[in-house]
Amino acid sequence: MNVHTVILAAGQGSRMHSALPKALHTIAGTPMVQHVINTSKQVSNAIHVVVGHGAEAVKAAINDDTIHWALQEQQLGTGHAVLQAMPDIDADSVVLIHYGDVPLTELKTLQLLVSNVTPSNLNLMTVTLDDPAGYGRIIRNDKQEVVAIVEDKDATEQQKLINEVNTGIISVNAGLLREWLPTLSNNNAQGEYYLTDIIALAAENGCSITTVQPSSMLEVQGVNNKIQLAEIERQYQLQLAERLMNAGATIRDPRRFDCRGQLVVGQDVIIDINNVFEGEVSLGNSVVVGANCVISNSTIGDDVIIEPNSVIDQAVVGDNCQIGPFARIRPGTTLANNVKVGNFVETKKSTIGSGSKVNHLTYIGDAHIGQRTNIGAGTITCNYDGVNKSKTILGDDVFIGSNTSLVAPVTVANGGTVGAGSTITKDVAEQELAIARREQRNIKGWKRPKKKG
Ligand code: UD1
Ligand code: CA
Repeated sequence: MNVHTVILAAGQGSRMHSALPKALHTIAGTPMVQHVINTSKQVSNAIHVVVGHGAEAVKAAINDDTIHWALQEQQLGTGHAVLQAMPDIDADSVVLIHYGDVPLTELKTLQLLVSNVTPSNLNLMTVTLDDPAGYGRIIRNDKQEVVAIVEDKDATEQQKLINEVNTGIISVNAGLLREWLPTLSNNNAQGEYYLTDIIALAAENGCSITTVQPSSMLEVQGVNNKIQLAEIERQYQLQLAERLMNAGATIRDPRRFDCRGQLVVGQDVIIDINNVFEGEVSLGNSVVVGANCVISNSTIGDDVIIEPNSVIDQAVVGDNCQIGPFARIRPGTTLANNVKVGNFVETKKSTIGSGSKVNHLTYIGDAHIGQRTNIGAGTITCNYDGVNKSKTILGDDVFIGSNTSLVAPVTVANGGTVGAGSTITKDVAEQELAIARREQRNIKGWKRPKKKG
């Protein structure tokens, strides 16, 4: 069975009030249409995306050359949209029709939808709603067989009472679509070529219509405005949080948890409120993440404590480290085991050896720091001369006094000591003490200035 998924994403989404095409608005950090592509790919041999408004922006953002792009220059309706993808689809295939603004349909539902699709049967996903306003209504005959869909704007008062509605997601034989789509008329309340009119054609032509239901409403919820976008985001995040809690993580408040990517957790992980995880993040066993941290594309070892308000990006953190509060660990940072990086410390493209401490108010950039080295408060690696970046190398058991500027390229060898307030421009050999500051001058009997007048 050859399955082609056709994803409709040509609409402007005017109710989003945005310059960004609707399909590119994100759920959990991923464009909505990308969610649909990812799930559909698992049941399809080919993916076709129908684009119109912002077509070039959508293509560029998705940047996937396995996708067949179909252009719908004017948005003349969902039936017209599907027709644009048909030239690329063989008549004996199954066509699964999906929407770029319905991001969270599950794989098992799509699998159900594409099964048993033949020239004599199609599958239609429907849901029953307490408030069906706005949706196409499912019309059934005396034998409870589906015979038509009537759009809300075309429905009679009687039909508007029907609670079973069209989700829009349909799976149908390609040959039938090729026959039916060109015959649709736009003689209706919206002057559009409705895809939904194929249901009446199917019924008239003896093609049975099987209805399939999603496991939850979230699967079929579409996004038309920013309020719905936020609602779906929260529901999805809650699902992700529940999945992690079922795997043993303690999440202090699953309503204040955000994962925009893949988060893998070890045993006994504790995640306090308002944390954001982006990209691929893994937390080892017994990691504690304090409130308000942002952790992106990083690997965190076992028994690590990340204190509140820390930001960690593209870093590797060993076991038993302590980070923050208010630490900024930037890309290319590697912390070995038992490292402490304290408050208002920024690190970038640096490795810090086991047992070393950088406790307060410090910038470590382009540096290699050995083991058991202690960096005093207010130390700066001056790694940039305005043109080039240079490296700072500190050996094992080094002690850097507070308020030191290490003007790179510079090395302090094993056991070297730097006195507080130094500006270090020359290498320091093993076991040497370097002090580079003006000697203190005390003036006896000094009179403080007095206020004038
Ligand atoms: C559609 C269904 C309705 C169903 C509802 C479920 C039709 C005629 N109606 O109505 O039965 O209950 O979805 O949400 O199908 N699009 C295009 N090109 C177009 C028109 C639409 O690509 O010319 C895309 C839109 O970008 C959107 C999707 O198709 O992603 C649905 O279009 P929309 O206008 O929102 O349809 P509804 O009126 O919601
Ligand atoms: Ca819609």
